[in-house]
Amino acid sequence: MKKDKFYFSVSTNAFQIEGGRNLHGRTDSLWDWFTKTYYHIPPVNSTAREINSIVEASDFYHKYPSDVKILSKLGVDAFIYNLDWARVFPTDGTKINPMGIQFYDRVFSELVAGNVKPIPILFHWDTPMWAEIKGGWTNREILTSFKNYCAAMFKYLGKYTDIWFVNDENKSFTVDGYLTGQFPPCFQDENAFVKAVHHLALSGAIAKAEFKKAKELGYVSPDAILGIDDDWSPPVIMAGVDADQKLIDNYNAWMRDLWLDPNLKGTYPQEFLDYIKSKKLDLKITPADLKLLQDNKLDFIGWNFYRPYFITSKTALIPEDQLHRPPGKLPFGDFQIVLPKNHPHYTKWMWPIAPQYLQEGLQGLKAKYDLPVFIVESGFGDFDDKSQELICDLDRIAYLQGMLTEVKAARTKDLNLIGYSIWTYCDIFSPSAGYRKDYGLVSVDFNSPIKERKPKLSYVWYQQVIESRGEDVTVNEKLLVKKLQELLKNWDIFLK
Ligand code: BG6
Repeated sequence: MKKDKFYFSVSTNAFQIEGGRNLHGRTDSLWDWFTKTYYHIPPVNSTAREINSIVEASDFYHKYPSDVKILSKLGVDAFIYNLDWARVFPTDGTKINPMGIQFYDRVFSELVAGNVKPIPILFHWDTPMWAEIKGGWTNREILTSFKNYCAAMFKYLGKYTDIWFVNDENKSFTVDGYLTGQFPPCFQDENAFVKAVHHLALSGAIAKAEFKKAKELGYVSPDAILGIDDDWSPPVIMAGVDADQKLIDNYNAWMRDLWLDPNLKGTYPQEFLDYIKSKKLDLKITPADLKLLQDNKLDFIGWNFYRPYFITSKTALIPEDQLHRPPGKLPFGDFQIVLPKNHPHYTKWMWPIAPQYLQEGLQGLKAKYDLPVFIVESGFGDFDDKSQELICDLDRIAYLQGMLTEVKAARTKDLNLIGYSIWTYCDIFSPSAGYRKDYGLVSVDFNSPIKERKPKLSYVWYQQVIESRGEDVTVNEKLLVKKLQELLKNWDIFLK
């Protein structure tokens, strides 16, 4: 990987964009099962977008050639893509589906031809059902299949890129999937939770061992790097509340270190080990497991930064009228996450808007790990009015302007930041809000049979930022509108 280069990028994820779920040998995964059975779009923002299914989503499966053109026009250096395991191994852990590999090979080769570096993430919450019915991540056997999957992806796609990630947000996947039951596999079981946490950590080490082999075999370039992606929200003690550094340390142990230490330091935070012991949970972390982690540390950090979390101690009694909602409680840790009314800016889904914590977060990561950091996800969920000729998503631009101002400042400091990627390239299926929450720089008309693409104002704004290599983050609405009008005049049939 070039050390002098900063990556401006966009990111997205297979089950949220790809569609083609029943095609060419693919079989169901957790999110297919979940969206077909239990998933209901939360009833906010009444619209025509009443689709639950991810069978088509944004139809990237068929539309990637035009999507790559749109990405090239945008000028991004990279495209971060969370791959679909079930497409490549649809029946078990050993038999590769040639059509699955061929699909990703075509996507990656088009990206490279379009001057966009593909950056793959191997796993983002979507376990194949053939593995899930055997216990999924609670069953250690999954690791043998995962090893074969990693080896295949490095072998067949290694020539396209020197930046890889193993896992995306093991925290969201295991907390929501195994503890709160909100997302698939919908468990509320602390034993299942700790097992999944440990097996996912081991999967990172196993991927690294395969990565080293792939380098020896010449599939992956010698200087290629493999990272882990986590969504740590830096903690901020709620204003007016009594709390100290101990609470911050406890929050960080649970919300950052547990997800990064095993793969970056080869250790678990003591808080996690005490939790297993005190609750008599059914997990043994053996010396051999720790050795595997220590021998196969990952090379760098992916960081999904959307927001900080406001916290208080779990026992703090905050008057109801000071909070937007009652605090969310987790079965671990001494902290609780709150939504204070004294914070002025939230998204429509009550995600705090506070880009000023980006640099503080980078400082925290540097102090703890001192490794390169790639911001993999950063984006603004909103409800865009797609009925207008021009989609002027000014609130999204304001949010991204805040982030990119921080990025610009961070790059002048010794904070190891190597890239910034917007979530997402185009509108997608959102786990928390279906098709009712838009993140894209490019609009997708989900009600059109061709899932028609159209750039938003934020697309031309990001284009300007990239052209200036991050220097020009100003927002001149009039000029941007003019640029978008020009772009739409030439938005030919091959881009739609
Ligand atoms: C991240 C996930 O945590 O949040 C993405 O990795 C997700 O998959 C993103 O889309 C935004 O969440 P939501 O629920 O608003 O779409």
